Amino acid sequence: MKKHLEKFYALFSNDIGIDLGTANTLVYVKGRGIVLNEPSVVAINQKTGRVVAIGNQAKQMLGRTPGHIVAVRPLVDGVISDFEVTEEMVTYLLNTAQKDNKKFFGPRVVVGVPSGITSVEIRAVRDATKNAGAREVHIIEEPVSAAIGIKLPVMDPVGSMIIDIGGGTTDIAVISLGGVVRSKNVRIAGDKLNTDIISYIRSEFKILIGEKTAESVKIAIGSVIPGSVPMEAVIKGRDLVTGLPREVVITDADIREAISQSVDTLVEAVKEVLETTPPEILSDVMHRGVYLVGGGALIKGFPELLNEYIKIPVYVAEDPLTAVARGTGIVLEDLQAFAEVLIVNEDDIPSAK
Ligand SMILES: Nc1ncnc2c1ncn2[C@@H]1O[C@H](COP(=O)(O)OP(=O)(O)OP(=O)(O)O)[C@@H](O)[C@H]1O
Ligand SMILES: [Mg+2]
Repeated sequence: MKKHLEKFYALFSNDIGIDLGTANTLVYVKGRGIVLNEPSVVAINQKTGRVVAIGNQAKQMLGRTPGHIVAVRPLVDGVISDFEVTEEMVTYLLNTAQKDNKKFFGPRVVVGVPSGITSVEIRAVRDATKNAGAREVHIIEEPVSAAIGIKLPVMDPVGSMIIDIGGGTTDIAVISLGGVVRSKNVRIAGDKLNTDIISYIRSEFKILIGEKTAESVKIAIGSVIPGSVPMEAVIKGRDLVTGLPREVVITDADIREAISQSVDTLVEAVKEVLETTPPEILSDVMHRGVYLVGGGALIKGFPELLNEYIKIPVYVAEDPLTAVARGTGIVLEDLQAFAEVLIVNEDDIPSAK
């Protein structure tokens, strides 16, 4: 009976997966794939409280808006910093995703949340999504979704290790039989590397640079181990002494030094998780390797550096920025088969051990 009812609902509603990231938000619609992949920036009209734009469009409005429109990032460190804005954003995402194909019933939605999120935060995500018009809300931990997205055998009695280095948080998780066996959530990821670079340039060169500049040099010449050819970049900032614009040339060695402490902390966190992983599972991980996802996984040399420390093969997954969203899509295909990996009750968070 329940199956028939589900089929009936399926005809008249959409299935949608959301990866609410600190840096990027992705929306997956069953049957269509990833339909939205944009920076997590929201422009809000303060007079009406409504979202005017999200993503690239909102980012472009930064600094160019009339007084009553503000552009904000609703998620900080991977968690909701502003409930109302998040709800507005989810409403906007659901509407945009269903724009050309609105169905009679509200959608079933799978939302990825960082591991280590509190029950209060999970409830906030669930409520925001429900209020945004979802008929059903299923919550999944991002590393689990990412592991499913990159086709690791998460439901099997085999240990898999995944590390998601995002913008706000790094999630390190060991998964077996549909559950998180060990995990750690560190609030050091891509954004922290940007602020590390800003601080370093300020203290070494006495120049103030913006976050966008820091991020572009990180992506252009950032690496955690020296390459065969040194790399350089010219950056522009404000001279802290004269207050005027000034240019300096920085090298990959500068960036390495700037981010070294954060990188060390990440490596230590991975070691800690491995140290407490039960031996059978550890042996699976040693044999199968560790998988990196998230944009931060693209920093040059990180897989090699991590491998040097943990002596386990490290692989960067294909298309690492979309892994979580692809995972929500796979879960939507068969919610029943993945029931075990979903957080049903906020008070029963699998990884909150
Ligand atoms: N080629 C690259 N090299 C280094 N860092 C990169 C590269 N490409 C993207 N990044 C970084 O990846 C981060 C964004 O990754 P991602 O989209 O996975 O984060 P998110 O899912 O939004 O964040 P979170 O999961 O923490 O909520 C940004 O900090 C960005 O600077
Ligand atoms: Mg993410």
